[in-house]
Amino acid sequence: MLLCFENVSFFYEKNGNIIDNLNFELKEGELAVIEGKSGSGKSTFLHMAGLLSFPQSGKITFMDKDVSKYKKKHELRRSIGHIFQSHMLWKDLSAKENVAMPLVLQGISRSNAHKIAEEWLCKVGLENYINSSITKISGGEQQRVGLARAFAHNPKLILADEPTGNLDEETGDKIMHICIQIARKNNISMICVTHNKKWNNMFDSEYYFEKGKLHIVRRNDV
Ligand SMILES: Nc1ncnc2c1ncn2[C@@H]1O[C@H](COP(=O)(O)OP(=O)(O)O)[C@@H](O)[C@H]1O
Ligand SMILES: [Mg+2]
Repeated sequence: MLLCFENVSFFYEKNGNIIDNLNFELKEGELAVIEGKSGSGKSTFLHMAGLLSFPQSGKITFMDKDVSKYKKKHELRRSIGHIFQSHMLWKDLSAKENVAMPLVLQGISRSNAHKIAEEWLCKVGLENYINSSITKISGGEQQRVGLARAFAHNPKLILADEPTGNLDEETGDKIMHICIQIARKNNISMICVTHNKKWNNMFDSEYYFEKGKLHIVRRNDV
């Protein structure tokens, strides 16, 4: 198992449980999709899956490590890539620099990082935009840069929080297909939060979030 939640609960201050006694497991290479109304706890759940916040009770295991107890959390986080609704790119950098920057911050040399960035930009179909300014490419192209950035550091797990939320349906289709194709090819696991059910059949498992509880809709063998 790559990621495992056991009886996990999370709350803010004196509010009630935002995540309520949640159990979840994700295998290597498994692609899971999560739906649910706004405010049901999806992003909070992804935050914990990304080891960015930690539950008050219960246990999260990632790559066989109990993450609350594990000291070198930043090392585990390197195996996790994030894709956001708004792509969160640096506006004054080129596409290539945006993909390369997190790699350089991880200690990879600038020239190596640029090489990796170029390869990934080609894989997401941006070979003609490698040196383009982020402000001069479309929303769909920006999201492709976001994909390249998430995949470039060779993650085990991709967390995508409404990755098509700001895109029209046709562009969203393309983004979802590229993302799933790359994940499948590289045996990368993914948890994707989305409101559009039309992509559900491309995933191995489907879940529904409701008031901090995660309900399983379908789970196929991986
Ligand atoms: N920093 C915070 N402090 C207090 N409550 C929060 C905070 N962030 C989110 N919440 C609350 O947690 C609940 C779940 O939010 P969220 O996980 O963002 O839901 P979703 O992603 O499903 O829309 C909401 O009721 C939201 O208001
Ligand atoms: Mg959310």
